[in-house]
Amino acid sequence: MDTINNRRSVRKYSTKIVEEEKLFAILKAAMQAPSAVNQQPWEFIVVENEDKKNILSQTSTHTKFSQKASAIIVVLMKNVDLKAGEFAPQDLGASIQNLMLEAVNLGLGTTWMGVYPNQERVDYVRKALNIEERVSPFALIAVGYPEIDGSNRFIDRFDEKRIKFIK
Ligand SMILES: Cc1cc2nc3c(=O)[nH]c(=O)nc-3n(C[C@H](O)[C@H](O)[C@H](O)COP(=O)(O)O)c2cc1C
Repeated sequence: MDTINNRRSVRKYSTKIVEEEKLFAILKAAMQAPSAVNQQPWEFIVVENEDKKNILSQTSTHTKFSQKASAIIVVLMKNVDLKAGEFAPQDLGASIQNLMLEAVNLGLGTTWMGVYPNQERVDYVRKALNIEERVSPFALIAVGYPEIDGSNRFIDRFDEKRIKFIK
């Protein structure tokens, strides 16, 4: 529960490069997510190249900070050969949340940057990395060591008014 409570969107990063083992660890967490009929409709591109990060950071006005991340993970959604394709966006959401939580466990900071279903952003990211049509860019995740210790910290959002019990 601490990991869930403390996860925050971290948008300022130190210059320390995130180790490959940690990148694999968060991607392993991403692939442990539940998915409709276990279709696992996810693929990932890990972008560490400065030029490509620079291009991706211009996907929208809300993504500029990601240029300074150690890596930008492009989350891709398969769009062919799925048994329950209409549920794929939910599968991807679960996968991204897993990734971000494991990042907190490893002392990293992440921010989810929305791409799908904004067609302009989908087209921009596809063109930037020459991504095949069989998958669609779904989100960008900036990953880095937080510039400021304690960036991942608890903010209480519990609101009892949003809950109803039917007994
Ligand atoms: C679907 C989605 C899209 C988002 N897109 C962006 C984005 O483009 N840029 C950004 O800085 N944050 C983005 N965020 C992060 C939210 O702004 C953030 O989660 C929210 O303000 C709550 O803050 P917290 O993550 O620290 O709890 C996005 C989050 C989600 C779930």
